[in-house]
Amino acid sequence: MTARILDNPTALFGSMGLTPPDLSLWIHPCTAGCGEQMQRPGICGDCLVKERLEKERIEGMRKRLETIPAQYRDARPDAACVRERVYDARGFDQACTALSRHRVLVLLGPPGAGKSTTAGAVLAAQAEAGRSIAWIPALRLAVARSEGRLGSEPDEIRAAIRAQVIVIDDLGQEGLNPTSAVVDVVHARHDSQKPLIVTSGLDRRDLGTRYGGGVGRRLLEGACVVELTCRRST
Ligand SMILES: Nc1ncnc2c1ncn2[C@@H]1O[C@H](COP(=O)(O)OP(=O)(O)OP(=O)(O)O)[C@@H](O)[C@H]1O
Ligand SMILES: [Mg+2]
Ligand SMILES: [Zn+2]
Repeated sequence: MTARILDNPTALFGSMGLTPPDLSLWIHPCTAGCGEQMQRPGICGDCLVKERLEKERIEGMRKRLETIPAQYRDARPDAACVRERVYDARGFDQACTALSRHRVLVLLGPPGAGKSTTAGAVLAAQAEAGRSIAWIPALRLAVARSEGRLGSEPDEIRAAIRAQVIVIDDLGQEGLNPTSAVVDVVHARHDSQKPLIVTSGLDRRDLGTRYGGGVGRRLLEGACVVELTCRRST
């Protein structure tokens, strides 16, 4: 009985011929809009936790996107700006869906074709889907060990192996360095079956010649290879 009266105090006052009180002064809906009614104005406990988790998720994603160079950070599969920078629309669309069926995406093409822009768009989409990402220029991978402390693997290399999805940008641009980590990273990602995006100005044959058949195979076998042209395609 008590519960029923408390459930419907308006009816109770009405049945006694009294003006029902203004319940909005007593009961406050959660300001986050979940429908929870509370005795104090504000947000309910559940929504407070949800809001905090969402804030942490967005902050984490912002930090992850910072690994992408500023120039390419605004690139997304559906961003209008990339259509101005990447002429080969068909190649771009093909690249954007590549990782759903392939572990490796290789973006080839002449300077300015939009390889890095496309890699940025694909990587950002992966970050927004909740995956950890890293962007590493091949140049950095090649010199990181010789510039780092002896005996400890530099952070860039560890990130390149650990992150769920990475871009190695401009493979082939780096000099030949005996301590280069390029080959190790390609091998490590192949062994752990982790997705890899590579951009290169070299063609398929030159990739094999430069890095040896083992790396060439790990990069190209079963990969989605997109050769971006500098002409407009639809
Ligand atoms: N942030 C940007 N704003 C405007 N235009 C850009 C931006 N980034 C790149 N571009 C232009 O978009 C085109 C594609 O650039 P992108 O760097 O993706 O090419 P790329 O194939 O990686 O070239 P490279 O072989 O020199 O690395 C180029 O014409 C470039 O000048
Ligand atoms: Mg580039
Ligand atoms: Zn709530």
